[in-house]
Amino acid sequence: MPEFNVTQLTESVLNSYAGAPDPRVASVLRKLITHLHAFVRDSELTLDEWTRAIDFLNRTGQISGATRQEFILLSDVLGVSMLVDAINHRGEAGATDTTVLGPFYVGEHRVTPHGTDLAGSAPGERVLVEASVSDTAGRPIAGAHVDVWHADIDGMYDSQKPGYRLDEPHLRARFVTGSGVDAGRFSFRTVMPHSYPVPTDGPVGELLRAAGRHAMRPAHIHFVINAAGYQPLVTHLFVAGDSYLDSDAVYGVKPSLIVRLEPHDEPTWPDGTPAPARWYRTSYRFALRKETPA
Ligand code: BEZ
Ligand code: FE
Repeated sequence: MPEFNVTQLTESVLNSYAGAPDPRVASVLRKLITHLHAFVRDSELTLDEWTRAIDFLNRTGQISGATRQEFILLSDVLGVSMLVDAINHRGEAGATDTTVLGPFYVGEHRVTPHGTDLAGSAPGERVLVEASVSDTAGRPIAGAHVDVWHADIDGMYDSQKPGYRLDEPHLRARFVTGSGVDAGRFSFRTVMPHSYPVPTDGPVGELLRAAGRHAMRPAHIHFVINAAGYQPLVTHLFVAGDSYLDSDAVYGVKPSLIVRLEPHDEPTWPDGTPAPARWYRTSYRFALRKETPA
């Protein structure tokens, strides 16, 4: 009979899970138990600390729901989301870097014509984004679906606001990349994105405060790109010069995703319509990796 003490307990627990019929389940459980026990032993967790940890996890679940994903946010601020992302996107030469999806993707967006102004009368400096989608060799991909969303000047996504309606999107759209002379291209106008805090009114906010960490994400625009025969691309474009690029609360920044928004003073947009006194322009080519055969 083993003794369930500090030295022998771990081996007994490992043995009792070793017979899991699925070898992947058996392997992942073995590592989970090994690392979890090592953590508890190493940190000499007190009963009070264990109780507080259980309470923290309970509250993380309780605050979560259809529009609030506190567990994903916890994974994000602990760097786990970006670690899983990195493990699953190794060695993709020529492909655009990936980053976190974040909790404000609402599913498929409404298909919108190229060049549309997503901002309407929203306050903020005006920006033109001209982009294209290609394979890793630079060959344009026509008909790709590009979902775009970003926060407003106050750092809020439409889906965070009271009265939000899925059928009345703001600062969100889906573009379908062009064909022929416009092969792979899409473009839109919007307002300059700003840095904003991740939600801090729940357990994750408590964690950040306890650690003395800020909650800010540098200014960015989200993109999800899907095209038949290619792996989906989940990424952002970050605004060069933002003061939080080096300390993103969710570790999502990659240098290849930072773009310059160049100022322009011409009186019209490139399509000839009247422009504000100063506007900004950026361009980017997103490169998708081929789907791996099953
Ligand atoms: C976002 O960029 O929308 C986001 C990502 C991770 C956590 C919170 C927000
Ligand atoms: Fe975001």
